[in-house]
Amino acid sequence: MTTLPKPHLFRPEDSKPLRWGIFGAGWIAEQMIKTAQKNSQQNFVAVASRTPGRAEAFAKTFSVAHSYDSYEELAARSDIDAIYIATLPSDRLEVALIAINAGKHVLIEKPITMDLGEAEQIYAAAKSKKVLAVEAMWTRFLPHMDIARQLVADGAIGEVELVVSTFCQANLGVPRLFTLGGGNPIIDMGIYPIALSQQFLGDPNEIHGFGKLHPNQIDEETHTFMRFDSGARSNFVLSARTAIPITAAISGPKGSISFGAPWFTSSSVTLNGNGLYEPLATWKDESGLTEHIGLVHQVNAFAQYVEQGLLEAPLYTHQQSLANIKTAITIGSQIGTRFK
Ligand SMILES: NC(=O)c1ccc[n+]([C@@H]2O[C@H](COP(=O)([O-])OP(=O)(O)OC[C@H]3O[C@@H](n4cnc5c(N)ncnc54)[C@H](OP(=O)(O)O)[C@@H]3O)[C@@H](O)[C@H]2O)c1
Repeated sequence: MTTLPKPHLFRPEDSKPLRWGIFGAGWIAEQMIKTAQKNSQQNFVAVASRTPGRAEAFAKTFSVAHSYDSYEELAARSDIDAIYIATLPSDRLEVALIAINAGKHVLIEKPITMDLGEAEQIYAAAKSKKVLAVEAMWTRFLPHMDIARQLVADGAIGEVELVVSTFCQANLGVPRLFTLGGGNPIIDMGIYPIALSQQFLGDPNEIHGFGKLHPNQIDEETHTFMRFDSGARSNFVLSARTAIPITAAISGPKGSISFGAPWFTSSSVTLNGNGLYEPLATWKDESGLTEHIGLVHQVNAFAQYVEQGLLEAPLYTHQQSLANIKTAITIGSQIGTRFK
């Protein structure tokens, strides 16, 4: 019988609690604080929103002691170690620098920016201030991805030569995706399949994107084929207008590894042989930390990295983050999407 390796987990008890502030009191900030308050030992001290009254309402809902209508005022507090930046990518550089220049470690929502130069400036500023800066590519920190990395490292499928994924979600009703500066689906959503390929294959040397634009010239759907130095290939279908189950698999000469849908959240992982009917073993996340509750893994990882004095996340380095922004922009440019 085939057995799968156990996941290495970022456990709450393995790091001292940080004192957090939050910039931006929107949807993702709510998901993140909900799970972190329940499933970690982190302390949320203050929240700031530029929308008047929103931080106060957020603070009340989540019992956060302090709220501000200005990011600068929050950043000036001396009792904050880290700031979770949950705003939109359009003003990330300005907003991230407020936190970094105040000497705070930063966990910055993905996509870190929509501009390579801006992302480089953020990481350079963080390095010079000696603070940890991590783009919130939370999938890297999930247990099923850890199991897949272990299987690949152990040679369970041989050298990975193909990565195939979908990320199709009916998101036409999400205004930020179709507003200039709000993220564009190819960066906001596309960063996930791009990062998945990167995790197992590195960065592509050949990229071919085909797509469908929205009436306002922002990308709605993208079909991408990428090739790598090793000769490996990757393709993904990304749609922000139509939904299909969000699946992914990687394969090598000895078999494949497939992920449960939606693969970018903590779901399941199956090791398959090469036969038509040959799943060998499956690990399913039964911890209760599935869906967006799994955001807590990156929070626990971040706290450990701060304690270790790291300036970047070994599981998602600055270089990897920058390379993925570059790939997303390349694909978007190939299909003629409007970024500005
Ligand atoms: N990890 C994930 O699974 C996941 C899921 C969803 C989103 N995200 C990422 O998280 C980020 C925020 O997404 P969200 O869904 O939370 O967005 P949201 O609720 O629409 O907005 C988040 C915050 O961004 C600022 N904002 C929104 N619209 C703005 C505008 N028109 N002009 C200026 N500021 C504006 C506001 O900050 P103030 O409160 O300061 O006014 C708002 O609270 C995005 O980059 C997104 O890609 C990640």
